[in-house]
Amino acid sequence: MFVILIAAALLAPAYSFYTCDELSFCSNIRYNFDGLSFTLTNIQIGDAVTGDLVNDQTAESFQLKFVALEGDTFRLTVQDSDNSRYTPENDALNGAPTEQPLTLVSSSDELYVVSAGDNLVNLYLSPFHIEIVRDDQVIIEVNKANRLTINTGDDDQSVALDISFPVANAAYGIPLHAEGLSLSSTGPGGLSSYRMFNVDYGSYPTNTRESLYGAIGVLYGVSSFSITSGLFWMNGAQTFIDITNEGDGVDSLFISETGALELFLFAGPTLQECVRQYTALTGVTALPQYFTLGYHQCRYSYMTQEDVETVVAEFDNHNFPMDVIWLDIDYSDGYKYFTWNYTAFPDPVGMQNNVLATGRKMVAISDPHIKAEEGYFVYDQALEQDFFVKNPDGSVFEGVCWPGLSSYIDYFNPAAQEWYGELYLLENFPDSTLNLYIWNDMNEPSVFEVDELTMPGNLSHYGGLQHKDIHNMYGFKQTQATRAGLLKRDPTKRPFLLTRAHFAGSQRYTAMWTGDNVASWEHLRISIPMILTESLAGMAFCGADVGGFVGNVEDELHQRWYQAGAWYPFYRGHSDASTVRREPYLYPDDIQARIRSAMRVRYVHIPYWYTLFFEHELTGDPIVRPLSYHYPQDEAVLAIDEQWLIGSSIMAAPVLYEGASSVTTYFPGGDNEYWLDIANGNVYIGGASYEIPVDMDSQPYYYKSGSIILTIQDEVRSTEEHRDSSYVMYIFTDADLQATGNFYLDDLESFDYRNQVYLYYQFNYDGENLSVESLNGDADYDREFTISEINILTPAVPFSEIPIKPTHTVIDMNIAFGKIKAKTMINLSS
Ligand code: GLC
Repeated sequence: MFVILIAAALLAPAYSFYTCDELSFCSNIRYNFDGLSFTLTNIQIGDAVTGDLVNDQTAESFQLKFVALEGDTFRLTVQDSDNSRYTPENDALNGAPTEQPLTLVSSSDELYVVSAGDNLVNLYLSPFHIEIVRDDQVIIEVNKANRLTINTGDDDQSVALDISFPVANAAYGIPLHAEGLSLSSTGPGGLSSYRMFNVDYGSYPTNTRESLYGAIGVLYGVSSFSITSGLFWMNGAQTFIDITNEGDGVDSLFISETGALELFLFAGPTLQECVRQYTALTGVTALPQYFTLGYHQCRYSYMTQEDVETVVAEFDNHNFPMDVIWLDIDYSDGYKYFTWNYTAFPDPVGMQNNVLATGRKMVAISDPHIKAEEGYFVYDQALEQDFFVKNPDGSVFEGVCWPGLSSYIDYFNPAAQEWYGELYLLENFPDSTLNLYIWNDMNEPSVFEVDELTMPGNLSHYGGLQHKDIHNMYGFKQTQATRAGLLKRDPTKRPFLLTRAHFAGSQRYTAMWTGDNVASWEHLRISIPMILTESLAGMAFCGADVGGFVGNVEDELHQRWYQAGAWYPFYRGHSDASTVRREPYLYPDDIQARIRSAMRVRYVHIPYWYTLFFEHELTGDPIVRPLSYHYPQDEAVLAIDEQWLIGSSIMAAPVLYEGASSVTTYFPGGDNEYWLDIANGNVYIGGASYEIPVDMDSQPYYYKSGSIILTIQDEVRSTEEHRDSSYVMYIFTDADLQATGNFYLDDLESFDYRNQVYLYYQFNYDGENLSVESLNGDADYDREFTISEINILTPAVPFSEIPIKPTHTVIDMNIAFGKIKAKTMINLSS
């Protein structure tokens, strides 16, 4: 197929975004900090520590509160004396955290020592700073560098604090940036600060610290030799972060434009524990419907109903699986959401039903800007009820977006939230059906033709809030309203919602994707650390546009992107309006075959993905994980972000470079762990890197020894057909010939699983027998499923005799059982 290659450089945006040094509130804090210090006085120790925090220069006094929370977590809050600084606690947190009493260990004029669980806390009074001590090591230092700042001027309400992780040798977190997993040092004279300020940054560059669409203030000080700990800076305003990651430890400096000082500290001691501590606070992604884990086909835009139906039919004609077809903005009448362009889509209900009849769902976009046009019912109702964001003089703010002049719903008004959510009810969204799910885009919010393409900070929101106080939460509040509306529309099914803008806690409402990436190899590669970082920040259901949204995608890159994207939690192909059409069936046969087989790899493993999403809801563990999540003591994996784990049993290591004839892949786990390439039977021994030869058909991924993985091998058109499929089990034994793996199954769509209506099994293989144990107690779910084939993969020679690195060897796969029913197998255990 012929495509025109547009160099990424040509696509660079014409607009620019601010750095810390260009904004006075930030540069003042970054550079003018001599002589700063605070003293903590009037300490009271009860279940919490409270006291007055006094600025030694100005004598201004603030209220400090320090509490211990369940699960090795601490919370530090510093407020004005009248409690007037904004805190996002009611939105970011998943309910009030459970406090745990602190115990006073000792006190003197200089230092109070308190304890909670396994942690000691040293509170130094003057200059004020805090140390968290675990296993006799200081693992977190707060204000050790005396950078605490709380400005109280009319024009400058900024707040800042330094936090260090003295025993860490890498820093992860603070999405969203187009950066590697392991964050690089910033700092005066070096690179600019990481910025968190939600903006509509199309064709963003890679390897920068510029802000993109989402902002989550979670940072982990990762240690391969000691304790990993973390922090959550809970602030809804624009924030800059400096990181110093050279030599001993990781230092950070957080600077926010406004707000209360709200800091949570996670004492780990591992990255996994830290992530669980963070998700315990801000919540998890609820188990999505099964179909959402299939492939999604999108385009800006499918312009007509016929176009939509043809794409679906062509997927079938060419035997490509697909679960969801998406409607971008052009389905609507002049970008007035909740309406249809009936010329192009004469029968929306018929279309949704036709798509449903093929076993598929639809998603329609619905943005927060509302066309300012009298007679448009959404605009009229919002205006009448005073639901729009306001200018400082109290008039309704108008800005330009897709429909032209628009106003923006103020989701901070609870009545506006409820009203907006209800727009999604079938009776309010004409010609919508329950087969239509939702995509909230442009919700940073995007405002064309103005500074930084977003709302000015002085706009006003409900309850006296200024936009700058809550800028990073605007999209969050939209998705909160949308999810509530979708639940009202159909309380029996789990909603699906995708967002671009996001904030801490967004995972409770929505999936996210990384916005307008570019069809370039750099963007394919950077998508992986972006997704891993979002995953560590709670956003379990995340993805990047397969193929790259902006620019025409060259054939080789497109195939590689389908291969790699099969291992994103959210798997969607999407492309910009100005690109050449790129639906997979438009390609020559050999390319079609590769894309088809990449998608099949996804569909084969959906039962495994589904089990992981269920387990995420239980534990907070992300679906996709950096290698360091499971190999915390292996320094070699700290910065690896071109391979990743899906759960703990599968490692993806796809081809990410143009013209590659091999991929350098590191296999973790040391000598006792083996990794199997199921496509060809090659096994690799852990603890070394191998040069894996590849060709265009290669989509390398590996099963970890000791795993049991259930797959569906049927060639399906959509996951709808998985309902009738039988399972093929792979048992890949470890050196002791043992293996274990979990499997979850329910009705794939409803909330009945919340009443224990599901199967959740742990399979165990002990070298001879396969047994199964229910992890769901006595609760029963009367659903028969068939395991038609069990493959026990174990080496033909003892593991110790497998030729060791750097070569690899092909082992025999012994197929031990075949064609048995689950019940038969359960008997095996008795
Ligand atoms: C934004 C979105 C993109 C979408 C387009 C039109 O650029 O990021 O995915 O296609 O708007 O709605």
